Amino acid sequence: MKFITFENNDKLPMLGLGTWKSAPGEVYQAVLWALEAGYRHIDCAAIYQNEKEVGDALKKAFDDGLVKREEVFVTSKLWNNAHEKDQVKVGLNKTLQDLQLDYLDLYLIHWPVSLKSHVMFPEKGEDFLDYSQVPLSETWAAMESLKAEGKLKHIGVSNFNQGKIEELLDSCQVKPEMNQIELHPYLPQIDLVNYCKKNGIHVTAYSPLGSADRPKARKKEDDPILLEHPLFKEIADKHGVSTAQVLIAWSLHRDIAVIPKSANKERIKQNLEAADIRLDAADMKAIEGISVQHRYIDGTFFTEVPGSPFSQSDLWDSV
Ligand code: A2P
Repeated sequence: MKFITFENNDKLPMLGLGTWKSAPGEVYQAVLWALEAGYRHIDCAAIYQNEKEVGDALKKAFDDGLVKREEVFVTSKLWNNAHEKDQVKVGLNKTLQDLQLDYLDLYLIHWPVSLKSHVMFPEKGEDFLDYSQVPLSETWAAMESLKAEGKLKHIGVSNFNQGKIEELLDSCQVKPEMNQIELHPYLPQIDLVNYCKKNGIHVTAYSPLGSADRPKARKKEDDPILLEHPLFKEIADKHGVSTAQVLIAWSLHRDIAVIPKSANKERIKQNLEAADIRLDAADMKAIEGISVQHRYIDGTFFTEVPGSPFSQSDLWDSV
């Protein structure tokens, strides 16, 4: 297993279990299967609405002596409705309570989009708080305070483009250590990854398998199916592995952490085994040559809400 080493020498196993779309009824078992298989990195978020069950699974694993708390790297994310400075600790405390933890290894601002505290998902312009009402620097300062209190080992962002990161870097005391973004061969994020690396910010790939199980509201009719591209099958056959494993190994070869989601015991195990796959230069070059460009999670559920103060350029630099 490859690790990311933070400035303070803490280590993040680069392959973790994603829990977005794992239903409350299945995520408990998925987390336990993952820890039994050897995963030591679990990626969570308040908005996945399953952190209580993830917390029950972690407690069970700790109580049974399967793993110790300090052996598992747990990430969670602050939802958009808790960006105001007094709300950030409310959001974190709820997540800590649900996960039954007293600290997180990594906490991320989930999106550079703010909502009023009573709103889960926006339906109209009044549901939002714009950047003059809640600057990102306000949310970030609150994240820094919680880190200083010892409740967070590391802090970072998710779905931040270069401009939004620059804004934070201009005003921060503690720089973000992670940017978690959609990343797979249809969206390799070459410029953003280079920018992050140049600035000492690590990258985690979400939706590395193309998130085919995303909710209907997040699907468009002409979305390509990542796992069905024939090149991955060809490379998989050459190495005697699965197409999903090729996609996971591809991120690891780029030194990018990756969090495939599965709620299936065999696939959870299979995905972890991708850490041992060695793709060769020809495989990497062939994947680089794929011409399809596609973003599955495009943020229009924020930017196309009538009256939204946020636009696509607040989220993405390209595609
Ligand atoms: P399942 O949970 O039934 O295993 P992403 O990580 O990009 O969000 O993709 C998650 C989707 O990929 C889920 O539908 C998940 O289904 C599926 N998946 C996870 N691992 C594999 C695998 N090894 N082979 C095929 N599909 C997989």
